[in-house]
Amino acid sequence: MSDITAPPRPWAPVHGEPYRPVPYRPERMPADESLTRAAELRRRMDERRTVRRFSADPVPEQVLKDAIACAATAPSGAHQQPWTFVLVKDPEVRHRIREAAENEERISYDGRLGEEWLAALRPLGTDAVKSHMTDAPALVVVFQQRYWLGEDGTKRKHYYVDESVGIAVGMLLSALHLSGLAALVHTPSPMRFLGEVLGRPENEKAFAVIPVGYPADDCEVPDLVRKSMDQVLVEV
Ligand SMILES: Cc1cc2nc3c(=O)[nH]c(=O)nc-3n(C[C@H](O)[C@H](O)[C@H](O)COP(=O)(O)O)c2cc1C
Repeated sequence: MSDITAPPRPWAPVHGEPYRPVPYRPERMPADESLTRAAELRRRMDERRTVRRFSADPVPEQVLKDAIACAATAPSGAHQQPWTFVLVKDPEVRHRIREAAENEERISYDGRLGEEWLAALRPLGTDAVKSHMTDAPALVVVFQQRYWLGEDGTKRKHYYVDESVGIAVGMLLSALHLSGLAALVHTPSPMRFLGEVLGRPENEKAFAVIPVGYPADDCEVPDLVRKSMDQVLVEV
């Protein structure tokens, strides 16, 4: 594990630098402890549900920051770490994001999505009203850095951006859940308004808005069934 108390080394794309390995010798976990931990993790992760009705109660800000730090440890194509997490706490900014999202969602639900997409969404009980964006005490807006943009305007290609950011968001959701918070991956389409409201640079493209908080006292979730192991696992 890297020393998180050490002063940070400057980050720069390691473009064209030679290979400089360092030893990596993590202590091996005994198998019985692995089994116990894996079973407990599986049970805890199975309890995660997407929440769409949030309490306005505040959450400890450090938990959000630690979860984002966990997400930022994700593997990424060529270690380019092509992500930015914008933590939106300001109620006025959340209100503007909600308004812009609802404008897009109304057009989507009024026909842009098409009947097949609407039918897929019906069991989830979603509609164009996005109260979670102003009820939840914080939004994490995740941006993909589609390419690297130097201060002098130089651009450099990023590799496997979708995959890298998807993995980081998975780690974010896991960290939030295991820290006792609920979240929703919200993907209004199109999402260009997020970059505009949050003043993000031209190389960044919104990936998702993630409201985070505690479930409302009267929170309900759709009665979904997850695929069983024999439906998701192929052993060869
Ligand atoms: C990439 C992605 C996009 C999603 N977009 C939305 C969305 O825009 N609105 C929404 O209410 N839920 C959205 N969801 C949440 C899914 O509907 C939810 O994960 C799914 O129904 C399974 O429920 P669970 O998370 O409780 O297991 C999204 C999830 C993912 C992974």
